[in-house]
Amino acid sequence: MSGVSSILLSSTVHPALTAATAQAFGVPLGVVKTAVFPDGELGVELGQSVQGLDVFVCQPLTAPVGESLFALSLLADACHRNGAKRVVAVIPYLAYARQDRRDSTLSPLGARVLADLLAAGRFSRVVLLDLHSRAIEGCFSAPVEHLSALPLLAEAIGRNLQPDSVVVSPDVGGMKRAEAVAKVLHLPVAVVHKQRTSGLEVQTHGVVGNVKDKHVVLVDDIISTAGTLSAAIAALLAQGAKPSFTVAAVHGLFVGPAVERLAQLPLKHLLVTDSVPQRPGIHPAIGVVSCASVLAEGLKRLL
Ligand code: R5P
Repeated sequence: MSGVSSILLSSTVHPALTAATAQAFGVPLGVVKTAVFPDGELGVELGQSVQGLDVFVCQPLTAPVGESLFALSLLADACHRNGAKRVVAVIPYLAYARQDRRDSTLSPLGARVLADLLAAGRFSRVVLLDLHSRAIEGCFSAPVEHLSALPLLAEAIGRNLQPDSVVVSPDVGGMKRAEAVAKVLHLPVAVVHKQRTSGLEVQTHGVVGNVKDKHVVLVDDIISTAGTLSAAIAALLAQGAKPSFTVAAVHGLFVGPAVERLAQLPLKHLLVTDSVPQRPGIHPAIGVVSCASVLAEGLKRLL
């Protein structure tokens, strides 16, 4: 590609986000051909040479995670073998990020294992969006560029903010995220005391902060099964919060019983980004904020 020094490629998961990011980034979107062989193996082929180029490869690690990860690794290998100058992984959603510590001496450290597997792609940098915890950066030996879509979500919340609002984190681990949004919106913060009992269920043990007669803005990194949200909203209603919630989360996975659970909740607004592909019909109040501009700005800093 004469006159071009960088290219953005989509792996298998999210071509729409990659295309929007390429446009905002101002670099060409490359072509990647993928196939699944009859035995279930993936086939990947570059649609053009990337020799001498800075190649940015975009792949959120959605389910099935092993396949998403392997497709990214295959594409990285194709780029290296074709003579790319450097290959940067752009991973808007990092799977296994919630396994950032061991539950017991009998458990693995999932985030570290994932980072080690990603190292096989020999990426010169790894670009990540709103990690579950910043400590995960330490799992990578390649430099990590950690971007955040929280300012975008805060802006979207601010457009529909109701009077007497309070920003709430559904658990102690998410306090920094809630504080970041509350700072932009000039609002107080509260937190729900949560305990996870299984992958599907959580229990709450009260709320710290004043939520009585307040409109609550719940801020989280991930909505997976919506168990956390359901439990947090029940705890907040029990403390007198108004039954009209705004929920904002960066990664809307919506797996398992999430859609049914969300339908039972008094949600006025449900905001997520497109860090993973969003399907229609999740909830009538859903709004999807694109994180393409955040990724593009982050990638420009790497040139
Ligand atoms: C947990 O620490 C995370 O920040 C999220 O609150 C959680 O992973 C969401 O999962 P779910 O929707 O299944 O409760």
